[in-house]
Parts: sequence; structure tokens; C-alpha cells
Amino acid sequence: MELQTIEWRNNKIKLIDQTRLPDKLEYVYIDNLKSLWQAIKKMKVRGAPALGAAAAWGVYLGAKDIKAKNFSEFSRKLDKISAYIASCRPTARNLFWGIERMCSAAVRNKNKPIPDIKRILFKEAQDIIKEDKASCRRIGYYGARLIKNNDTILTICNAGALATIDYGTALGVIYRAGEEGKKPKVFSCETRPMLQGARLTAWELKHKGIDVTLICDSMAAALMRQNRIHKVITGADRISANGDAANKIGTYNLAVLARYHHIPFYIAAPGSTFDLGIKSGRDIPIEERDAAELTRLFFKNPVGPKGIKVFNPAFDVTPADFITAFITDRGVIRPPYAKNIPRVLGE
Ligand code: MRU
Repeated sequence: MELQTIEWRNNKIKLIDQTRLPDKLEYVYIDNLKSLWQAIKKMKVRGAPALGAAAAWGVYLGAKDIKAKNFSEFSRKLDKISAYIASCRPTARNLFWGIERMCSAAVRNKNKPIPDIKRILFKEAQDIIKEDKASCRRIGYYGARLIKNNDTILTICNAGALATIDYGTALGVIYRAGEEGKKPKVFSCETRPMLQGARLTAWELKHKGIDVTLICDSMAAALMRQNRIHKVITGADRISANGDAANKIGTYNLAVLARYHHIPFYIAAPGSTFDLGIKSGRDIPIEERDAAELTRLFFKNPVGPKGIKVFNPAFDVTPADFITAFITDRGVIRPPYAKNIPRVLGE
């Protein structure tokens, strides 16, 4: 069975509800902006490229019902919709990229009648879906060249089909290596506190027939010491111009461990995750989430004392120096990143 994380169906956004996995494969149908905002916030849809597509469909969802006499009125209303969607989660560059792409399409066509602009926005969101499918496959193609037969790869969070439209970035590399007969094996970090590695990556890889073993996050060092990991590959939420990369909290731990154990550490991401307007990782906004994610969410009984202080940043930043290479949809980028990222990705 092929999975598609997001699509437009019967005038609604159709999403796989990722909070129900691995128990149930269920879909939610979204027909208003408030429900979309909540679906993103609660991580029914999550993962940087999927957020980009969800945001783009959100812009269309709001735009299709705009009543406006002229473009400037339309544009004012579109900006309001965009700002509302953008207020949802701050870290993934793709969310803002999706919104910006939709707004630029409207501006480029401002001399056309409003109904035509709405049709153009529909097509733009559809193109984002199509392009994500192609871009993940290109990442897979470039990344699989780095994988040797029977390599064991460590990953964190979910950078797979569920985090994109249907193939994945880090997991796209593994799928492609599998398609090439290289028999990759995967250790998936469970990824506390929201357990994307346990609930999503382990489920997705198993579903697609890849040899996957679930570990808890604190087991990574021991496995590396036993020479059982050949490569670490993760996704990213935002990469600054100098190559610092924000990804799920715990990614930096893996990068430090990989450096110590002389294991290559790769980040797989499309061009839309790079933020060339941000010089270094220090400027990447890091989302802080609800304390309850740590103290109770997946447990019958609370696992922290009532009222305990909790610090719950959803992402950390891995300094560029720890990253062996970026596997992008335009090829593999190696250091020096300050020079090579703009060279490969600059417009
Ligand atoms: O909080 P999440 O689940 O949205 O975090 C997602 C990640 O950290 C992914 O690794 C990243 O978005 C890359 S997805 C291809």
C-alpha cells in the first residue's frame, strides 16, 4: 500500500493523522484554517517538507473563499491568512517557504481576475506536492551513492514518507539504497518526548520492508562503541547559510557521538529547508512545547511530579562542523559550507 501524507480531496485537505500511528492508519479531512492550525500544532501533520505542503494548501483553503473587489483587498486578506498559518510552529523553514511561494504566485499574477488567481494558487499547491515527490527521489538517488551494501544506519525522529509527501529525505536515501539491492539496516531512535522514531519511523520502515530495530535514545553511544553503526542520517528543519542545522532534539547528541566514534554524519534535506537569509544556527528560532509532552502524554500515570518545572525544546542545532555532508535534491554538499551551500543552492 502506498502512503500519501497530504492531498487535496473533495475540497478539503486530507492528512494522515500521525497522532494515531502506529495503532491506526486514519485520515483527517480539513475544511477550515483553525482545524489546520490545530492539526499542525498537535502534530497530526509534522516534518518540515510536509509542513511546507500543508501550509501551502492552508493558504489555498483560506484564499478560495476570499471575497475582494480588487487585488489589494485580496492581498491584504491573503497576508492575514498567511500570518495565521505562520504563527503555528516556528522552526521548520519549509512552513514559511510554502506560504511565501503561494503569496509570490498571487503577486506575480496580480493583474489577473481574482478567480484566475485562485486557480493559480490551487495549481501552485499541487505543484508543491508534485515537486516534493520528485525532490525526495533526487535526495534518495544522491544519498544512496554514499551507502555501501549491508550498511547499518542510525536515524532519529521521522524524516520519511510521513514527513514529506510520500518518500522521505533521510529515509528516502534508505529506500533508494534498498531499491538498489544494498540491503540497508536501520536503528531508529525512539525520539523522546513525542516518539516520532518509535511511532512513525519504525512503523513506516517496517511497512516498507526495511530491516529496522527500535532503540531508546540513550542506546546510541553503546551501539556506536560496538561498531554497529556505519552512518548516521537525519533530516533537518532549517539549515542556515553556514551549514548549522536545526533538527529534532537529540540530533546534536548523535552528531557529537558520531564525531567521537569516527562515523559519518549526514543530513538529508531539500533546498526548501535551507534558509540562506540566516547566517548561523544561533538565529534559528527553536520551538518550545508543552510540559505535558514529557510528563504524561504517552503514559497512563504521570511520570513527573505534579507542577514540576519542565524544559521542552523541540529542536536542537548541530553546528556545521559536525556534519560530514548535506544530501540535497541538487546533489551532495560538502564543506566548506559557507562557500558550497550558496554555490549549489543560491538562486
Ligand atoms: O517535531 P517534528 O516531528 O515536526 O520534527 C520533525 C523533524 O525533526 C524531522 O527530522 C525534520 O522535519 C525533517 S523531515 C524530512
